[in-house]
Amino acid sequence: MIWTILLLFNGILFFYFMSNRTRSKREPPLDKGVIPWLGHALDFGKDAAKFLTRMKLKHGDIFTVRVAGRYVTVLLDPHSYDSVLQDTTSLDFTRYAQVLMDRIFNLRLPNHKPDSEKAIMKRHFHGESLSCLNHNMQNHLQTLLMFETTATQNQTDWKHDGLFGFCYSLLFRAGYLTLFGGEQNNNCTDAAKVYKEYQKFDSLLIKMARTTLKSGEKQTAGSVKQRLWELLAQAGQRENSSLWLHSYRQHLEQEGADEETQRKAMLLQLWATQGNVGPAAFWLLAFLLTHPEAMRAVRKEFNSITLSGTTTLDPQKHTPVFNSALEETLRLTAAPFITREVLQNKTLHMADGQEYDLRRGDRVCLFPFISPQMDPEIHHKPELFKYDRFLNADGTAKEDFFKSGRRLKYYTMPWGAGTNACVGKPFAVQSIRQFVFLVLSHLNIELSDSEAQVPAVDASRYGFGMVQPIKELPIRYKLRERSNLQ
Ligand code: HEM
Ligand SMILES: *[C@@H]1O[C@H](CO)[C@@H](O)[C@H](O)[C@H]1NC(C)=O
Ligand SMILES: *[C@@H]1O[C@H](CO)[C@@H](O)[C@H](O)[C@H]1NC(C)=O
Ligand SMILES: *[C@@H]1O[C@H](CO)[C@@H](O)[C@H](O)[C@H]1NC(C)=O
Ligand SMILES: *[C@@H]1O[C@H](CO)[C@@H](O)[C@H](O)[C@H]1NC(C)=O
Repeated sequence: MIWTILLLFNGILFFYFMSNRTRSKREPPLDKGVIPWLGHALDFGKDAAKFLTRMKLKHGDIFTVRVAGRYVTVLLDPHSYDSVLQDTTSLDFTRYAQVLMDRIFNLRLPNHKPDSEKAIMKRHFHGESLSCLNHNMQNHLQTLLMFETTATQNQTDWKHDGLFGFCYSLLFRAGYLTLFGGEQNNNCTDAAKVYKEYQKFDSLLIKMARTTLKSGEKQTAGSVKQRLWELLAQAGQRENSSLWLHSYRQHLEQEGADEETQRKAMLLQLWATQGNVGPAAFWLLAFLLTHPEAMRAVRKEFNSITLSGTTTLDPQKHTPVFNSALEETLRLTAAPFITREVLQNKTLHMADGQEYDLRRGDRVCLFPFISPQMDPEIHHKPELFKYDRFLNADGTAKEDFFKSGRRLKYYTMPWGAGTNACVGKPFAVQSIRQFVFLVLSHLNIELSDSEAQVPAVDASRYGFGMVQPIKELPIRYKLRERSNLQ
């Protein structure tokens, strides 16, 4: 008993000491929250968008909050984002990325060289190599979709499914075959197995990142990762893995990573390359299916650039309407944190002339979802899906958006920005475009309940890239008559 009390007392002293930080005049407003140490961690984890919107109302475009013992300065003025994105001396991207790599993937790379890894990826996701990847991706999508619609049941019957699972599963398996290779009969059981395990992994990912797994979940997470590492053991070594994965694996070997570490790195790459594309395609199709005018416009554009019955969409073809609908989808559903660690004390210059001191050891976090993406001053009625929001009256892409009377450099940021912006953007966009094209031109697809609405967002995922729906959107589909996907 006495020990318990002593321990408790010690704890309270410790917390008191930890929470003793005060704001100096040149620092952003400080909000520690009422709970010692944890600070705002619970609100932050439950729904970061809601919490940070509340903090913005209270403190303005910049403030510091305490989250599980860390002090995080949040910046929400897009005019000032470059002061964070362009400072690669005082602010560091890799440290926090490494923390997450360890927590989620149990991965510690010896001689980790993020720059050379990125260079390898850039090389393979550009130019000729990109065309080749696009081509393979298209073939896999076609084969899988054909199999999905014909092999399992009578072709003329409606097939019932949830739209999220339908999109994620198809894009994931096609992406896996394109980049990781593996068995390639029509049913493609290898990719299906990986997808099945990956789903379990994905459902625990946020908790792994926040280290809030319950003990039962810890065990599940451990065994799922184990199985995925085994399934991915051959990736990058098979003849039919992509050239990128071969180069990456070679690079790991040269850096002295052992076999086990290499497998863990394969899972990291699986997540980086497959984790966002499926959910993005889901939201886009969900918005199109619930907004008939948008659906008509996208169909009309597809019809105008392809002959009826074709399965390929030339990557060179311009699709401004589709592009705008995708941009609008991502504005509403891509919600990454852009996080940097402060390596040395630094003064942050805001666009309005204000200056703030940042402390070494703190983190800086941009959350473009709140602004620019959902900022009513920039996007009129930001909660609505307007497929032509990013189109000018003459049909060209609209790039002029304003805040405080000044034109914005960043008016939506689903792909991040600066030196750490998404390397896979062109591949991701073409994959989604090809998928939506195939689905719209070769399937009859409709909502099971014609009155259904786009499901709400799982708010706990704000901050981790594409958000996911809280529940399924039931659909039915079948192959169009005279449609030939082969
Ligand atoms: C809709 C799909 C996608 C979205 C919304 C997306 C979004 C993002 C974002 C926001 C970042 C920046 C993270 C940060 O600043 O902390 C990022 C980084 C990255 N993305 Fe994507 N991504 C997508 C698909 C892909 C695909 C298909 C690939 C690869 C084939 C890919 C490869 C990467 C890589 C390698 C990085 C790290 C860049 C670095 O370390 O500097 N992404 N992505
Ligand atoms: C498929 O359904 C059609 C119409 O319902 C029927 O005529 C046909 O016999 C069925 N084919 C098979 C293989 O079940
Ligand atoms: C790809 O490689 C794996 C293992 O080397 C093999 O089982 C599979 O059949 C190959 N697929 C194709 C299409 O060559
Ligand atoms: C495809 O593979 C799955 C998973 O192994 C299996 O359950 C299913 O029966 C297969 N379908 C066909 C039509 O071969
Ligand atoms: C950084 O700033 C903090 C708080 O303002 C101060 O206590 C610390 O001495 C500074 N460190 C350096 C190296 O200037």
